[in-house]
Amino acid sequence: MASAINRIGVLTSGGDAPGMNAAIRAVARASAVAGVQCLGIRRGYNGLINGDVTELTPDSVGGLTRRGGTMLYTARSPEFMTPEGQKKAVSTCRYLGLDGIVAIGGDGTFRGALDLSAHGVAVVGVPGTIDNDIACTHYSIGFDTACNTAIDCIDKLSDTMQSHERCSVVEVMGRRAGHLALYVGIAVGATAVLVPEREVDFERDVVEKIRRSRIQGRNHFIIIVAEGCIRATDVGRRIQEEIGLDPRVTILGHIQRGGRPTARDRVTASRMGVFAVETLAAGRTNRVVCIVNGEMRDFDINEALSMHKDLQDSMYNTAVTLTTG
Ligand code: F6P
Repeated sequence: MASAINRIGVLTSGGDAPGMNAAIRAVARASAVAGVQCLGIRRGYNGLINGDVTELTPDSVGGLTRRGGTMLYTARSPEFMTPEGQKKAVSTCRYLGLDGIVAIGGDGTFRGALDLSAHGVAVVGVPGTIDNDIACTHYSIGFDTACNTAIDCIDKLSDTMQSHERCSVVEVMGRRAGHLALYVGIAVGATAVLVPEREVDFERDVVEKIRRSRIQGRNHFIIIVAEGCIRATDVGRRIQEEIGLDPRVTILGHIQRGGRPTARDRVTASRMGVFAVETLAAGRTNRVVCIVNGEMRDFDINEALSMHKDLQDSMYNTAVTLTTG
């Protein structure tokens, strides 16, 4: 890979996601192959403001694929959202002689990258978020691991719910999106799945489904609630009021962001990290790396941020069928 760039930086920003380390490793290794020096920027955009960097060599990133979290730490940086903060970050880029930045994270991270780009810094974003809500890509790093973690937890909950013949209301993450809830709901065989992208009619979507399940002889129920849809505690209270069950509410929370990345996350992160370096080395900037039908592509960040990602209708309909039958 012939390259006109000499030194790049890589950072992780926003909520961490399993597989981010594999992406960092891939960026460092691909840089070395291209003869480019790679600096790790710690604590997201804060590290760019403060010049908090460490050199990443092929050796120093060894063994990272199997580690959850991010070895570069991550942060949401209020200072970077100010013009002064951005000026400081741009000065750091110039001072360090960075010819480009790979920014791994979600849409907040890409908005930050856009700000850098507006100041003439070459940037490429890599989608890393368990929410899988980046519209231009079919897949974001961390989603598969988060699904599997949630499924593992809910399988355990199901065991005890089955023993006690109880109802479990489980809130999963996803911010304003229901992708995680939908996948997990289908995978655990939920009684009902509530997502923010579809209007919830409590009678139809919860009460009726529990009643129908009961008539069919089932004696324990799992209701999956996306955090962006409705509070799980409210769902639990209404189930008690309207059906007379005594549900247990579990908010899975940050456990969904940790753990050893799955094969899918390790491989996707590795492909995206390499592709990000190739994109910068080819002189392309203001791009987001995407995976579309299994192929690596890149989109303009502005375009990527203006796109909206809905739930896949066929996936939602599958959940509806399975929770109705
Ligand atoms: O975007 C990832 C995510 O885990 C969301 O699903 C969740 O709403 C949010 O981050 C939680 O953020 P924090 O770690 O700041 O509590």
